[in-house]
Amino acid sequence: MSKRISLTQYLIEQQRGEAQIPAQLRLLIEVVARACKSIAISVNKGALGDVLGTAGSENVQGEVQKKLDIIANEVLIEANEWGGHLAGMASEEMDDMHAVPMHYPQGEYLLLFDPLDGSSNIDVNVSIGTIFSVLKHKGGDVTNASFLQPGTDQVCAGYCVYGPQTTLVLTVGRGVAMFTLDREQGSWVLTADQIKIPEDTKEFAINMSNMRHWDAPVKRYIDECLQGKEGVRGKDFNMRWIASMVADVHRILTRGGIFMYPWDKREPNKPGKLRLMYEANPMSFLVEQAGGASTNGLQRIMEVQPGQLHERVSVVLGSKNEVERVTAYHREAK
Ligand code: AHG
Ligand code: MN
Ligand code: MN
Repeated sequence: MSKRISLTQYLIEQQRGEAQIPAQLRLLIEVVARACKSIAISVNKGALGDVLGTAGSENVQGEVQKKLDIIANEVLIEANEWGGHLAGMASEEMDDMHAVPMHYPQGEYLLLFDPLDGSSNIDVNVSIGTIFSVLKHKGGDVTNASFLQPGTDQVCAGYCVYGPQTTLVLTVGRGVAMFTLDREQGSWVLTADQIKIPEDTKEFAINMSNMRHWDAPVKRYIDECLQGKEGVRGKDFNMRWIASMVADVHRILTRGGIFMYPWDKREPNKPGKLRLMYEANPMSFLVEQAGGASTNGLQRIMEVQPGQLHERVSVVLGSKNEVERVTAYHREAK
């Protein structure tokens, strides 16, 4: 049997090796991984754990909160508050950032998360996940403004997908690694390293029910995919839409593809549905580290200067040549 590498061993090697990740960052990643393990247990209990259904409240974005949105948020906060590795946290489910209570030591990192991504899939037993992003605290009091750093400043990003397997996917800026949860041992085992997204693909992910609301460049790209072999692309395309960004991105990291949640006319004043700081930025970091690309149609997402914590953004990410094509269509239309 080949030797198994645990998350701890992987991180210690990252600490000693080229990445030279600081001990505090290693602790942070281990704590997030432990929290994800705890969230996985709640997710798996489902109806038996009374974790399904809505909580009867709304978050700052006006979305109805599910019980698991709140449970996952609390698990992440409680796990990360006291270790001394963080200066503050921000989440999809909290209006403002959460400072580390004064009686705990203050660390140098900022953690942002989407505690439960794909909430509409919880009750129907389809893959969901947790997304996180880590920034350095640049000093001074921790406020919402401390988090408003572009994605290029991220020092770590990852997600955990709660699916048929529970998988943690991670980057510290030296490629992308995947760890599968061994439930019996309770440990994360390295199951894939230096993931690479194929540059070309025949698979796209977009919510087609919004087609009539799209902008012309998005419509052009999808129309051409739908024409298949007979059209300008000269090949047939396949479509997937899971409605959990984590699960869609996981498929793309595994076998390629393009994912889009573009701006559309339903809410013309919003740049898109997905949130920049704790959805688009961490996923863009992972995708770029795997050799893919990620833009908002015009610009690299990680170079967008955020103006607010819950800022939204249009997202086009995945296989490089397809993302470049969609981005070129947007630039031509400008
Ligand atoms: P969340 O559950 O954290 O609010 O995020 C859901 C997001 C994303 O995961 C997914 O790609 C998208 O919303 C699905 O949106 P539609 O239901 O509009 O397809
Ligand atoms: Mn989400
Ligand atoms: Mn969420």
